[in-house]
Amino acid sequence: MNKRLNLLYFSATDTTAKVVKSVASAFDMSVNKYDVTLPENRLNPLDFESEDILIVGVPVYSGRVPEFLSEYFSNVKGDGTIAVFIVVYGNRAYDDALLELKDIFEKNGFMGIAAGAFVGEHSYNSELAGGRPDQNDLDIAYRFGLEIKDKLNRNTINKLRVYGKFPYRDRRKSQPVQIETEENCTNCGICAAYCPMGAIRFDNFKVTDSTKCIKCCSCIKRCPVHAREIRYEPHIKLSRDIVEKYGSIRLEPEFFYRRKLCIINITRSLVNSCIIEIAKLKFFLLKN
Ligand SMILES: Cc1cc2nc3c(=O)[nH]c(=O)nc-3n(C[C@H](O)[C@H](O)[C@H](O)COP(=O)(O)O)c2cc1C
Ligand code: SF4
Ligand code: SF4
Repeated sequence: MNKRLNLLYFSATDTTAKVVKSVASAFDMSVNKYDVTLPENRLNPLDFESEDILIVGVPVYSGRVPEFLSEYFSNVKGDGTIAVFIVVYGNRAYDDALLELKDIFEKNGFMGIAAGAFVGEHSYNSELAGGRPDQNDLDIAYRFGLEIKDKLNRNTINKLRVYGKFPYRDRRKSQPVQIETEENCTNCGICAAYCPMGAIRFDNFKVTDSTKCIKCCSCIKRCPVHAREIRYEPHIKLSRDIVEKYGSIRLEPEFFYRRKLCIINITRSLVNSCIIEIAKLKFFLLKN
């Protein structure tokens, strides 16, 4: 295989990073990493060539690709470049994020061959998918990588289809929220160094620009003395509600592959649509 492997990902609390690295490790070749979590790494446009393979991973925010990333990704260009799309979500749902990610890249010269949706600990609350991706998820991610590597050597003509619908789900417009810093802050600066939006002042770590903050929770999770928190009641309620609704179920990774265009697949899809039509007709006749 005469290809170059590239990883492009955003990961504020490291769950997406773990998944994409595990997928890439299955290729057993050197990898160019483009970690665009920090703002200084999103300044330049990126160009990929036809010999490249790109694995791109993002977290799901409100069932979508985070808005600032869609804007950045419009400056990432391919040239018939093979791509794998990965979203990581907090055990609620990934809604239209995977479809949106695929659409953005396929519009920009990439050719999707596979896609996956994985579960990661929810940014807001570790009671939701706490500790995920766990070893089982990472093993699955590795096997997904092996499967893709194997498929690279086969010719496929059909388009990649993934779960999701267009028009995409509306982005939830939420109020800017202030992140509070407790007195026990030691001024270590970790929160500011890892903030993906440059929202925390480097000359005063207690000051956060709430208009820049995306509530990724990186600063909250990384603070060694747990000095940062969101005290805004609607946010606390939302976090509590999703734990109540989705905290006791375990969702598993899902995969999508570019299918071969073959007579068996065509026949199967024709038979399936006939069965659906017959079922609809039966239902109509029974009702009337
Ligand atoms: C602003 C925001 C919105 C989110 N929306 C969703 C969502 O719609 N569905 C879901 O299951 N998880 C959602 N999550 C959780 C993240 O998708 C999940 O925790 C992911 O693993 C974070 O990735 P990272 O560790 O790479 O930053 C959201 C997190 C944030 C910060
Ligand atoms: S990471 Fe925590 S302790 Fe360190 S500067 Fe930020 S708030 Fe203070
Ligand atoms: S200030 Fe906001 S954007 Fe920055 S790390 Fe904290 S939650 Fe994320």
